[in-house]
Amino acid sequence: MAERVVAVTGAAGFIGSHVVRMLRTEGFEVRAVVRPGTKKSQRLAAVQGLGCTVAYADVGDLGALERAFDGCAAVVHLVAIIRERVGATFDLVNRRGAAEVAAAAKVSGVQRIVHLSALGAGPEAPRYLQSKWMGEEAIRRSGVPSVIIRPSFVIGPGGGAAIQFAAVVRLGPWYPLYLLGVPARPLEVLAVLAPIVPVLGSGQYRSMPLDVRDLLAVVGQALRRDDVLGEVYELGGPHALTYDGLLDDVMAVLGLRRWKVHMPMSLARALVREFRYLPNPPITQDEFEALLVDNVCDNTKAVRTFGLTLKPFRDAMRYALHHPRQFDESGR
Ligand SMILES: NC(=O)c1ccc[n+]([C@@H]2O[C@H](COP(=O)([O-])OP(=O)(O)OC[C@H]3O[C@@H](n4cnc5c(N)ncnc54)[C@H](OP(=O)(O)O)[C@@H]3O)[C@@H](O)[C@H]2O)c1
Repeated sequence: MAERVVAVTGAAGFIGSHVVRMLRTEGFEVRAVVRPGTKKSQRLAAVQGLGCTVAYADVGDLGALERAFDGCAAVVHLVAIIRERVGATFDLVNRRGAAEVAAAAKVSGVQRIVHLSALGAGPEAPRYLQSKWMGEEAIRRSGVPSVIIRPSFVIGPGGGAAIQFAAVVRLGPWYPLYLLGVPARPLEVLAVLAPIVPVLGSGQYRSMPLDVRDLLAVVGQALRRDDVLGEVYELGGPHALTYDGLLDDVMAVLGLRRWKVHMPMSLARALVREFRYLPNPPITQDEFEALLVDNVCDNTKAVRTFGLTLKPFRDAMRYALHHPRQFDESGR
């Protein structure tokens, strides 16, 4: 790319903070596009500290997006929600937001969009993944050259699934109380007295957790290479792990031993339904439905194209938990 200004939407998010750092390290100028009123003040300060310019734009605000993308050669689109709330539905943020970003990119003369979708996105998928599919479709239809990446869930410092997995193993059955605001320390003591981790259903559903460093390698190349334009890349870690196997790996990384207690599916379903009354549930109905579908892929295309040596889950977890967390906003 001749011009090196890249706009990153969702720049104060978990993956956004990593993408911004990578781009700055590689010499790109970055326009960090952030939701007006964001509470991610630590990450925002870190992004500014890296020398990015900040533009405020909701993905529902076409005019603000056009101003944010003015003079940018590329957009990395990272905004999405995985949980709906009042005024922020999957359709509004994940589908329509992607359409608005593509429309603004077109008006602003942006030459490419690197769009982060999600592994399993498809027209018949559970609701979140269906909205991610519709977001892809909006980007494709816009006519702006694009690269679509469909990552599995991403493991890295400062947020995402790594911190959740570690808390689930450390706190066992007390994890929901932690999410409700109870301090971790006394719950960890209780968890030592009852060293179990509840598992919803069989624990045999599979996924391919991805190290954020592998994702960043792909995003970096997707911005530079013309031969990848128009392509879709599914991207997971090197191994398909059952949820049980994944918990075993987390225990090994943390040096903890816990017994996995499998809940019958009928009980798991009933429990997840009751969780909807909690302000910050451990899992939502949408996440539960998505969890039960095997979320795996064939990495061959991405590995060959980008020359990847994918990092195993245990390495990814170690990196995520032990690396300094400049961008930690994870809270609960
Ligand atoms: N993390 C994963 O494991 C994973 C796996 C597969 C795909 N992905 C995809 O990767 C992308 C980034 O995910 P992430 O984990 O980094 O998510 P994240 O931490 O939740 O970041 C998303 C960002 O989007 C911003 N945002 C939300 N609604 C917005 C709106 N209406 N207008 C403007 N900005 C808005 C959020 O701002 P506030 O925080 O201020 O609300 C947040 O900074 C998403 O597209 C996601 O679907 C993630």
